Amino acid sequence: MIFEMQGPEKLFFGKNVRHQLPHLLPDGNVFIICGHHSKKLLEEELLPELAGKKVEIFTGFPAEAPLDITDKALSAARAMNARSIIGWGGGSCIDAAKTVASLLDSGISATEAFRTDLSLGQRSCFFAALPTTAGTAAEMTPNAVLCDPETGIKKSLRGTAMFADAALIDPELLNGAPDEVIFSSGFDALTQGIESTISAKADAMTMMLSIEGTFLTWQALQLYSDNCKSDKVYEDLARGCMLSGAAFVRSGLGAAHGIGHPISGLKGVPHGVCCAILLAEVLKWNLPVARPRMEQLSLRLGMNSSEEFIEAVMELRRKCHLPENFKEWGLAPQDFPFVVKNCRSGSMKSNPRPFSDEEVASLLEKLI
Ligand SMILES: [Fe+2]
Repeated sequence: MIFEMQGPEKLFFGKNVRHQLPHLLPDGNVFIICGHHSKKLLEEELLPELAGKKVEIFTGFPAEAPLDITDKALSAARAMNARSIIGWGGGSCIDAAKTVASLLDSGISATEAFRTDLSLGQRSCFFAALPTTAGTAAEMTPNAVLCDPETGIKKSLRGTAMFADAALIDPELLNGAPDEVIFSSGFDALTQGIESTISAKADAMTMMLSIEGTFLTWQALQLYSDNCKSDKVYEDLARGCMLSGAAFVRSGLGAAHGIGHPISGLKGVPHGVCCAILLAEVLKWNLPVARPRMEQLSLRLGMNSSEEFIEAVMELRRKCHLPENFKEWGLAPQDFPFVVKNCRSGSMKSNPRPFSDEEVASLLEKLI
C-alpha cells in the first residue's frame, strides 16, 4: 500500500495547548480573526502574552464566510502589514483566516480568487488555527469554504498554502459554546467521519482515522445530549473531529456535503444543520453499494446492522434537537435546479453511489 498524509505543519492537541501560540509566532505584526464569543478570552488571556507586538483583532463573520467580509479582513491585514494571521473561532473564522493568509502578499482579492478558482500553492506569512467548535475541522484541511453573497454560490478555495503552520486544538475552547452550536457542529463532524468512511476514495489509513473519529464524536454527542458536559466529552468531541478531519483531507466526503453546500448558500441553512438533515437520506441511498463499510462502522458503534445504524443516526438527530427537513427554510421544487447545478463538487465525486440530476431532485423531494 502506498499513501501520503498531509495536514498542518505542527499539530498541538489537549487542554491548554492554546498557550503555545505566543511561542510559535515569528517577528512582526499579528492579525487575528476571531468569533464574537472568543474575543473576551483573547483580550484577557492572549493579548497580555503578546505584549510588545502590534496586534489587531477582526470580528464580524457570521456562520459562513462571505466574500465581502473576507475581503475587508484581507484589506485590514494588508494595511497593518501583518506577518502572522491567526484564525481563532468556528469554521468561518478559520476559513477566512486561511484565505487572508494565503492571499496576503498576492495583490489578489478573495472575490477574484473565488470567481477564477485560483489554486493557492504558496504563502509567505505565518498562519495558525485554533478551533472553538468541533465541527468543520478547518484547522486540518487545505481548503476554505466561502460564500458569494451576490450569487448564493458556496464553494471552496483550495491549495497547499491553506494548510496551517500550526493547528492548536484545545478542547477547553469548546466549553461555553451554546448547545445548538455543539449539536450542529457535532453533526458536521459526525457526517464528515461517516462520509469519509464510506467514501469511494477511502483506504485503510483514512478508515482507521475516520472510524475512530466517528466513534468518539458519536459517543460524545450521545453524552452531551444527555446533559453530560464533562471535560472528557469536550475532549472527545475535539479529538473525534480532528481524526475525521485528518481522514477526509485524503478520502474526500460525500453527497450530504455535496448537496448541502448549495442549499446552505441559497437558503442560509447552517452547514451542520444541512448535514444533519441530509445524512440519513444519503446513507439510505448509499446503502446498496456501501453496506460492508457501513456494517464495519455500525459494529464499532455497538450496533448489529446498517439499518439499525441509520435509525440511530435519526434518533441522535432528534436528541440533538436538529430538524429532519428543510421546511423552515422554505426549500421548494423551484430551488432544485440551482441545487442540482451547484452540487457537483469533489464531495459528490467521492460519494460511493453516483447520483443523476433527477436522483438528487428525488432525494430533495423527501426533505421539503
Ligand atoms: Fe462539513
